[in-house]
Amino acid sequence: MNEAIQYTQNLLFTMGDSILEICYLAASILFIFGLKKLSHPESARKGNFLAAIGMGLAILATLLFHRMDGEPIRNIPLIFVAIGIGTILGWLIAKRVKMTAMPQLVSVFNGMGGAAAALISLMEFPHIGDELIEKSGMLNGHAVAILLGLVIGSVSFAGSMIAYGKLAEKIGDPKLKFMRIVNLLFLLGILTFVVVILAQGHVKPTEINWMVYLLLGFSLIYGVTFVMPIGGADMPVVISLLNSFTGVAAAMGGFLYHNQVMLTGGILVGSAGTILTVLMCRAMNRSLLNVIIGAFGGGGASVDKEAGTVREISVSDAAILLSYSQKVVIVPGYGLAVAQAQHICHELEKLLEDKGVDLRYAIHPVAGRMPGHMNVLLAEADVSYDKLIESDDINSDLPNVDVVVVIGANDVVNPAAIDDPSSPIYGMPVVRVWEAKSVIVMKRGMGKGYAAIENFLFYNNNTRMLFGNAKDSIQKLIGEIKNL
Ligand code: TAP
Repeated sequence: MNEAIQYTQNLLFTMGDSILEICYLAASILFIFGLKKLSHPESARKGNFLAAIGMGLAILATLLFHRMDGEPIRNIPLIFVAIGIGTILGWLIAKRVKMTAMPQLVSVFNGMGGAAAALISLMEFPHIGDELIEKSGMLNGHAVAILLGLVIGSVSFAGSMIAYGKLAEKIGDPKLKFMRIVNLLFLLGILTFVVVILAQGHVKPTEINWMVYLLLGFSLIYGVTFVMPIGGADMPVVISLLNSFTGVAAAMGGFLYHNQVMLTGGILVGSAGTILTVLMCRAMNRSLLNVIIGAFGGGGASVDKEAGTVREISVSDAAILLSYSQKVVIVPGYGLAVAQAQHICHELEKLLEDKGVDLRYAIHPVAGRMPGHMNVLLAEADVSYDKLIESDDINSDLPNVDVVVVIGANDVVNPAAIDDPSSPIYGMPVVRVWEAKSVIVMKRGMGKGYAAIENFLFYNNNTRMLFGNAKDSIQKLIGEIKNL
């Protein structure tokens, strides 16, 4: 028996490296397939699961087969305790979080990734090998990867924490114009500092460790000052950007440890975050620089235009209009998420369909406050995916639609994006709801949307306002339709 165990241990030891490489390859493939599946709501759950299996496999394989100077990893029970605590905490937090608080949660999780990358760099700096130092001083690949991982990881951590604070409305939006100059100076200072560290000749890393701690401090401060002046509503874009930073920082760890799966994972996160940031900016017709220096919050010339009068509609008139329509399109927006009206909205949809109404949803790519917000919300209420039509695909059919019901959307249905060159949202693709025969807008009052600008849709002749909390309004509407 003992011989068999001994034999297995020896075999595992000699084959360990190969098994580890195969596991890393399998994990990388699982990450890629997982990411691919995340691109559609129907397969997203499976994608998440696949990527989690990949991560589990990579961790397990590392713990079992990784060798440092021929020695296996020590303190394995302690590592499992830490993994257990993290898993339970993550599970509980993710289970309890509300859908509308999802961006905050993503921000915190992202910050943890950045912090981990920065800690790895801190731990590894004193261990840069003597050979490398002999050969090229501090200017070697190892040191560069460590310092970049430290700077990017800590900026991402501190920035994500501030982003969380803003989204949770614990931190306001100070109007600090001079902050941009301070930021630029800080960034230049950090880069200079990195160069100074790398320019050290054959100094032992342990002797200049204090410099690395100072660099950590500066990077953390920069993370705070970088995100602080950006408007709270722009945070989803910033989180996506910080997410890509974390990916790059993790990839630096991959370089450091010659760890393929860490490298692949980091690159995937980094590139996915960058693509998402670019897509969000494009869908809002804004440049990243414009988001970072915060150009939203003004009215443009459209505020001076003659507003006209707003016409209201009663719940009973809205019920009649909808019941006798052939084609109805619902445009959900941020207000639907705030009111948590997705389930009741699905009920309205079923009720109207029972009456023979052809009902679809127009989904704008940046409706709400996070990518795919409306898709996720409606999927939660079991709305069928084939009813969700991208705004670009539904626009040409809107003149044939009898009633468009706008539920808690504002900017994504604002005609200023098309007819007011002075508007901050000019050029942003929108749902051209005003081309339908009638429009009903459900919102609580005349509150502005995220871009803080006037919306002249509300004053159009074919627009009627149904004021109130979206959930209550739909509830009343359902009651009326049932009584018809
Ligand atoms: P918004 O323009 O933000 O408008 C939402 C409207 O919902 C408000 O005007 C508000 O008016 C109304 N509302 C709020 N709570 C409500 C409730 N309980 N019941 C009924 N109505 C309620 O929303 P949108 O049209 O979805 O546009 C999204 C905006 O966010 C765009 O400008 C987009 O660029 C930006 N953005 C999106 C993302 C992503 S990735 N989705 C990321 C960053 C920025 P009242 O106060 O009068 O009720």
